Amino acid sequence: MAKEWSTYNPEGTRRVIVTKELPGERWLRILEAADCRVEVCESPAVLSHDEITEHIGSRCDGAIGQLTEDWDADLFGALSAAGGRAYSNYAVGYDNVDVPGATRHGIPVGNTPGVLTETTAEMAVALTFAAGRNVVAADGFMRGGEYEGWLPTLFMGQRLHGATVGVIGAGRIGAAYGRMMVEGHKMNLVYFDPYPNEALERFITDYSAFLVEHGEPPVTCRRLDSIEDVLREANVVSLHTALDESTRHMINSERLGLMKPDAVLVNSSRGPVIDEAALVDHCRTHPDFKVGLDVFEDEPAMKPGLAELDNVVIVPHIASATGWTRQGMATLAAANVAAVLQGYPLWKSDDVLPFLSGDVPQAAPNIVNAAELGLE
Ligand code: DGY
Repeated sequence: MAKEWSTYNPEGTRRVIVTKELPGERWLRILEAADCRVEVCESPAVLSHDEITEHIGSRCDGAIGQLTEDWDADLFGALSAAGGRAYSNYAVGYDNVDVPGATRHGIPVGNTPGVLTETTAEMAVALTFAAGRNVVAADGFMRGGEYEGWLPTLFMGQRLHGATVGVIGAGRIGAAYGRMMVEGHKMNLVYFDPYPNEALERFITDYSAFLVEHGEPPVTCRRLDSIEDVLREANVVSLHTALDESTRHMINSERLGLMKPDAVLVNSSRGPVIDEAALVDHCRTHPDFKVGLDVFEDEPAMKPGLAELDNVVIVPHIASATGWTRQGMATLAAANVAAVLQGYPLWKSDDVLPFLSGDVPQAAPNIVNAAELGLE
């Protein structure tokens, strides 16, 4: 069935399509100020490749797409043939985008880092404790009328205070999660990342000195040599890698077998980073192993058996779902497209907060193939 599209600023001379309704108003004002006629798809259903191609039509200057859509080289070919010069994903992750394909068609690809960091890390923390302390199973138990009074052994979970937290992928979100667990719960951090996060290590060293000064035990931060080392050592492991061929099924049955039998595993990155069928098997045979998942291998589907497991907490890819963050993502995606269409340069700082209020900077917040396209 044909999807409904709403048009804003119909007299705008540049045509931009937006494949889902976005929260807030600022993003729309940015595109309108850039003289864009903005067409927004009102349907919550995922648009197919053909539907997007059809809506690009014969004239389209730019597009804002979703992580649920497959923006492959053909789609960028259609956009380029329609005169398109700008694309932004409404997401920080862009594994749904064929970036080399976009580059071949000369189209800059924007994304939205800088507004999801703490919001996503907070959800990883929430999943850690929800899983580790049986929050969802216990909630079901109460609602099911099964509670017959306090018992010394009812729903015993993991004490995480002072234990070891492992982070795989210590970029912005992984580091924010690590800090929340260290600062809030005095955990010792071990991490694996191809690159050292020196700022994170320095912060935790200084924080440890502060704790000692106040008569509390120190905390540590160590970058380990391998993913295996982190899995063996940590009581909690949270995944924060991008999805690419090197991280697909990074957590498989062999690696799950290295983890402590009562560890907590959290994934708020991308579903295919875990071999989900292997995870189901592992959780079946290790009832004390706890898992918190925001993302799934075949989203929106789950692998058979996952939904029946009591030791798994599952939420529908909502780690960035706060008003501030989702409006911020819309603002950054619109600013990427508007800036490219107006020939503005790249924003030179990691701090994107200036885009969120006041006058919008005349720059593109983040273009992932800027170097390949020679953009400065
Ligand atoms: C992203 O931005 O990549 C998240 O997965 C959705 O907010």
